[in-house]
Amino acid sequence: MFECNIDDRITLKMLEVSDAEAIFALVDASRAYLRQWLPWVDATQSVHDTRSFIQCTLDQHAEENGLSCRITFQGHVAGVIGIDRIDWTNLLTEIGYWLRPDYQGRGIMTKSCRALVNYAFAELGLHRVEIRAAPGNVKSLAIPQRLGFTREGMLREAERLYDRFVDSVVYAMLRRDWDATLSPGTVVPRDHYPSTPRPKTDRMRVPKP
Ligand SMILES: CC(C)(COP(=O)(O)OP(=O)(O)OC[C@H]1O[C@@H](n2cnc3c(N)ncnc32)[C@H](O)[C@@H]1OP(=O)(O)O)[C@@H](O)C(=O)NCCC(=O)NCCS
Repeated sequence: MFECNIDDRITLKMLEVSDAEAIFALVDASRAYLRQWLPWVDATQSVHDTRSFIQCTLDQHAEENGLSCRITFQGHVAGVIGIDRIDWTNLLTEIGYWLRPDYQGRGIMTKSCRALVNYAFAELGLHRVEIRAAPGNVKSLAIPQRLGFTREGMLREAERLYDRFVDSVVYAMLRRDWDATLSPGTVVPRDHYPSTPRPKTDRMRVPKP
């Protein structure tokens, strides 16, 4: 069970089915704000939907194909961050996230994201981590920028957001660049990096239908 105390106020913990009520309550209370940039909000209509989502993330994790965490700030659920699908052939993944609106502006997501990037490189042995967001989602784009990711380009109309398609700006971090910028105080010490990818990375991954 993944759990990480980022500092004395912020904790990441792998989502559990018992989180469904709290997570659904956050989504339900912030629909207009979340649906500006997240495509799944309208489809989340009950605790049952959130429970199904969490079960999917647990199945993904069991298949070594992702990790989704609830973020708590001073003991209160603040949002979700996750690694969604892992391309074990190319050793790459993508991070996604959302935060309740009243907890924005405190650096919670930047710190959570830093911890998950550490996990992706140090624990999973991945080579590349991407973060994608629409050009207008300035707060989301600021996170990879703050963490030193490189802007690599823009995919045209790559995401369907309800009644329209939006472009995706792609930011990426390579493990060697992350390693070079690690500073004291990061969650995973430099000497925790495995020298070689873990054996499971040799397996060919077949994407889910
Ligand atoms: C994207 C989202 C998570 C960004 O939230 P956020 O609060 O701006 O991000 P952080 O928690 O990293 O906080 C950064 C802010 O805190 C400030 N901050 C304070 N202390 C900080 C610290 N120690 N480290 C970093 N930033 C800090 C930063 O200056 C920044 O404020 P600013 O925007 O006024 O410059 C949030 O807007 C959201 O959930 N949006 C809706 C869902 C969404 O768009 N998800 C992404 C889809 S691609």
